[in-house]
Amino acid sequence: MCRKQYGTENVILSDIKKAPPEVYRSGPFVYADVLDYKNLRELVVNNRITWLVHYSALLSVVGEANVALARKINITGLHNVLDLALESCLRLFVPSTIGAFGPSSPRDPAPDLCVQRPHTIYGVSKVHAELMGEYLHHKYGLDFRCLRYPGIISANTQPGGGTTDYAVQIFHDALSTGHHECYLRADTRLPMMHIGDCHRATVEFMHAPECQLSLRTYNIAAMSFTPEEVSTEIRKHLPHLKVTYNPDSVRQTIADSWPVRFDDSNAQRDWGWKSTYGLEELVSDMLISVVLIVIEII
Ligand code: SER
Repeated sequence: MCRKQYGTENVILSDIKKAPPEVYRSGPFVYADVLDYKNLRELVVNNRITWLVHYSALLSVVGEANVALARKINITGLHNVLDLALESCLRLFVPSTIGAFGPSSPRDPAPDLCVQRPHTIYGVSKVHAELMGEYLHHKYGLDFRCLRYPGIISANTQPGGGTTDYAVQIFHDALSTGHHECYLRADTRLPMMHIGDCHRATVEFMHAPECQLSLRTYNIAAMSFTPEEVSTEIRKHLPHLKVTYNPDSVRQTIADSWPVRFDDSNAQRDWGWKSTYGLEELVSDMLISVVLIVIEII
């Protein structure tokens, strides 16, 4: 979506891992390590970078399994990116999450501004990112922008160690074995969003004129569903789908501490945010996209 907007050659993707061939074919792709400041600086200088979109982070479940690494990537990595943004006058987008809230936050809905005492290292690092970015905006005028994403549902990427992963895995299981074992209780409601809405929200927010922004960190919402509700919707297409429940205590505890719904009225008012995918559209699109990926692999 960024490439459509800015031109293929003007958007550089990066990772520390080799990407699949289609990523190399789709435009510039480079090695970048958020823990290597010189490497980042070289990329910024050599390519005259103006916007930095910083996605590197360990998600909630993997973060709990390796707190030291999560601290390094999510906090030290962020500090590198903030320093570089200040040094090179970059504009900076950093995603935050439903995980930035905790058991003492209002859950239904969670507003933009409220108590945030998350119980995961992932959540703590994201609150830190929100606060550091906003602080540097107030102190030095850094153009910092942050959206709190719901659980993001995408057919193209494998689940990445988060609490909301089941909502991606269930589509792959429905189309392969026809059986999904869910690690959350059937009635666990969480905010979710289709990747298409997530990309569009990000680009629209990056484009919003500064004078329209009353905040630097906004919730964005699309829908909220439970494992049972998404299963019922999938069964309208694949009636044979069987779902069993075997709650995992780590993931269930995390999910129970997160909001069940986001209040995104500030994003709607300030820069016109509006989602397009509801549960029905999300399910049809995911089933088609997963089938297409499987056909491509074969
Ligand atoms: N998808 C993330 C996770 O489950 C939440 O932002 O950790």
